[in-house]
Amino acid sequence: MKTLLLFLAGAIALAAAPALVGGPFVVNVTRNTATVVWIVESEELTLHPPAGAAARPFPSLRIEKTTLTGLQPNTRYDYDIPGRDGVKGWFKTAPAATQPYHFLVYGDTRTRHDVHRKVIEQILKNGIPDFVLQTGDMVENGFDSALWPIFFDIERDLLRQTAFFPALGNHERDCRNFFDFFQLTNSYYSFNWGNAHFSVLNSDLANSAPTQHERDAFWAEQTRWLEDDLQANQNAEFRFITAHHPLFTAVARRQEANPHMTALVPMLEKYHVTAAFFGHDHNYQHYLKNGIHYIGSGGGGAPLYDVDQPPPGITQKVVSVENFVTVAVDGKTIHIQAFDITGQKIDDVEIKH
Ligand SMILES: [Fe+2]
Repeated sequence: MKTLLLFLAGAIALAAAPALVGGPFVVNVTRNTATVVWIVESEELTLHPPAGAAARPFPSLRIEKTTLTGLQPNTRYDYDIPGRDGVKGWFKTAPAATQPYHFLVYGDTRTRHDVHRKVIEQILKNGIPDFVLQTGDMVENGFDSALWPIFFDIERDLLRQTAFFPALGNHERDCRNFFDFFQLTNSYYSFNWGNAHFSVLNSDLANSAPTQHERDAFWAEQTRWLEDDLQANQNAEFRFITAHHPLFTAVARRQEANPHMTALVPMLEKYHVTAAFFGHDHNYQHYLKNGIHYIGSGGGGAPLYDVDQPPPGITQKVVSVENFVTVAVDGKTIHIQAFDITGQKIDDVEIKH
């Protein structure tokens, strides 16, 4: 009888559990802490547009999260989500400065879900990274709560096996969802991993504030922060920058489009940045200027853009193709490789300090 009651109680609990529509994934990972997030759909609203247009569902999403403390560096931790049989994940904490690591860079996963799915399949075949830098534009409209479950469904097997560090894209539209899902208190932030320091910028100046005056103030504040952040981390072996908008581009109609980013180049040179990763342009681009590698990987699913006007003197490689980038760091050596969705290598760079 007792067994039956326990069984019934379990069945009722399972039946009542809201659907898991995102994650679990792991953010804000350091050597000793990490936050595991999963997203559930508690209810669904049906919108009835006027003039007989089709009704459309909008899910109500709820974020579940827990922060783990007291972890050991460079250690794999497995976890499971309570009350959800079979939902498991794992991640590795950040290593000490002497230990090797590898990470993934990709972005602009919005719009073409079938292509996004192929990119993720190829990433998984290629090997699970210790962590991911996502260059932004994850969904077409960050406010649309129906799009996020699609993104998380496609990303599920990757996100359950790594740590996730996203940059804000213009299609996120500075939306609250981005900050809530990825447990960010600010749109720009930095973190340490092994022997490197990573600064993640909010390059989406246009959506940062409603007035020009406020946008100028925001950019001045972030630029000051970046300078302080880079200056304070000169002892790291490497410094990496990630942002959504590029500093250079081979897309003719977009050249001169991001003067706020291009204006950062002297600062990145002054503080010996090793490489900058960006997205926004849906292709692969690699530039080398005054010792800094600028790598654009916006080929995660959004419609491809031509690379019709490579900037002279600095262009290493530009290809209009879906892609992702892997970066392996071992001591003073960095190995950067870019792949298309068939697994074909499209770029291969070794940087030695
Ligand atoms: Fe974009």
